[in-house]
Amino acid sequence: MEIVILPDAEAIGRLAADQICALLDRKPDAVLGLATGSSPLPTYDELVRRHDAGQVSFAGARAFTLDEYVGLAADHPERYLHVIERELTGRVDLDPSRVAGPDGLAADVPAACAAYEQAIADAGGVDLQILGIGTDGHIGFNEPGSSLASRTRIKTLTRQTRLDNARFFGDDLEAVPTHCLTQGLATIMSARHVVLVATGQGKAQAVHQLAEGAVSAMWPASVLQHHPHVSVLVDEAAASRLQLAGYYRETYLAKPSWQGL
Ligand code: F6R
Repeated sequence: MEIVILPDAEAIGRLAADQICALLDRKPDAVLGLATGSSPLPTYDELVRRHDAGQVSFAGARAFTLDEYVGLAADHPERYLHVIERELTGRVDLDPSRVAGPDGLAADVPAACAAYEQAIADAGGVDLQILGIGTDGHIGFNEPGSSLASRTRIKTLTRQTRLDNARFFGDDLEAVPTHCLTQGLATIMSARHVVLVATGQGKAQAVHQLAEGAVSAMWPASVLQHHPHVSVLVDEAAASRLQLAGYYRETYLAKPSWQGL
């Protein structure tokens, strides 16, 4: 796991966008894993800027979102498939038919979750997964207590996550769905490269546990310690509880430029 401490969210967005552009350059039909939420927005804005400047094309790519609320009406603006279209996929040359998410309106939830796993496998697996992290250490919506071996399934959101996300629902906690479908921790672990982005003091404890805590279902993101290729891009505030921050800084500064992330 490599931890990169950067000055601000824009610098994080540029470095994350560099990874996606380099991937699409060497593999135009790459499979991208996309997170919603606030953390990846600077990355997505940077990708749109580079797309508009003719520096990157998504035409051959495919994308899978991490998760979806259960029961939100098909036209609800906070459905994650709509969110990702607004934030990224609808702003670049990626055909909507090449973007998929778990079906939060499925009548047969287990079948829909199995179908989503199959769709990712049929696409050849995720090449690069963008992740945010919840204040409680969730990735996707794998809340504390999630099985480290979990695949796509239904989960109950914690009260903390619903409070954190109420800002997207007019600050009305009751409007935030109680359930979601989410890629499991093992699903996320199958991605070939994981790029996790986190900013702000509110993420500091989760980032510390992710990188330096014991691997535990209590801090689901800590499972990433078992992944061979994880890049964690954080700002100073999100890095503020890292015990080895000095070492991470030295390592990144001394890194040969050919090495990349
Ligand atoms: C979103 C997702 C979540 C978010 C996390 C952080 O698809 O899977 O894990 O990444 O809740 O959200 P923000 O970035 O809004 O703080």
